[in-house]
Amino acid sequence: MTENSSAAAAQVTRTLREPELRVSDPPVSSPIIQVTDLEKTYHTARGNLTLFQHLDFKVSTGEFVAIVGQSGAGKSTLLHILGALDAPSAGTVYCASTNVATLTPRQAASFRNREIGYVWQFHYLLPEFTAQENVAMPLMAGGMARREALVIALNWLREVGLEDRREHRPGELSGGEQQRVALARALVNKPRLLLADEPTGDLDAATANQVFELLERIHANYGLTSIVVTHNMDLAARCTRIMRLDSGRLIPATNTISTGKPI
Ligand SMILES: Nc1ncnc2c1ncn2[C@@H]1O[C@H](COP(=O)(O)OP(=O)(O)OP(=O)(O)O)[C@@H](O)[C@H]1O
Ligand SMILES: [Mg+2]
Repeated sequence: MTENSSAAAAQVTRTLREPELRVSDPPVSSPIIQVTDLEKTYHTARGNLTLFQHLDFKVSTGEFVAIVGQSGAGKSTLLHILGALDAPSAGTVYCASTNVATLTPRQAASFRNREIGYVWQFHYLLPEFTAQENVAMPLMAGGMARREALVIALNWLREVGLEDRREHRPGELSGGEQQRVALARALVNKPRLLLADEPTGDLDAATANQVFELLERIHANYGLTSIVVTHNMDLAARCTRIMRLDSGRLIPATNTISTGKPI
């Protein structure tokens, strides 16, 4: 190992260990998300579609929240607004100490890279790159040297149990493995907030359970605050809180009754 690569490895070790220190931190109940008077209206040629109006809610640091609701209720739109991928029509959206409603596109990109890990229903891995390169991509986008980024990426692949698949391209991975790589990629920048939009929606029940278990473990180990949109009430019931988006309102939903049916 050269001097440079051992320095990179030492940096990686520090980088990976740092979040673990948060495991023993006392639980903090300050809101990491505080949404006030949120409105979202889409203006289309066929007229206006208002999804929310005067929507208020908070999420405390460390919570693992499920958002459920019918198709078209606006769950993805809400996650996009929280993650600064879409702008609200009105209201304030404090997310990780930033009012994301006021960010310029450049500020929004920097905020997302720094604070948000995003996992989607479909993995959106880049097909021509290996698993390791895909995980390293956000680090390189942030200016890190390729060699250092690849070392950190390998450690994250180990964290999601896929070190031995590092050279595989997305097309050479199973659906569950693709989602685990996507999770590693979402976390490689050590975000405070994990936003997951139907992360298990494209998986069979057993694989969905494995991926969700991994989400739970990583949420706990890295002191994350996580919001997961799901149609699976069994998985939602494992979260610390369920909110149902219904007619533009977020209503607390029980997490004790599971129908086993999709919702
Ligand atoms: N860019 C857009 N322009 C106009 N309407 C939109 C746009 N994006 C979404 N919508 C509409 O907003 C509504 C909410 O969409 P959204 O994707 O947030 O729903 P969802 O709750 O995530 O649904 P699903 O469970 O099917 O994923 C839908 O009726 C959709 O057609
Ligand atoms: Mg959606």
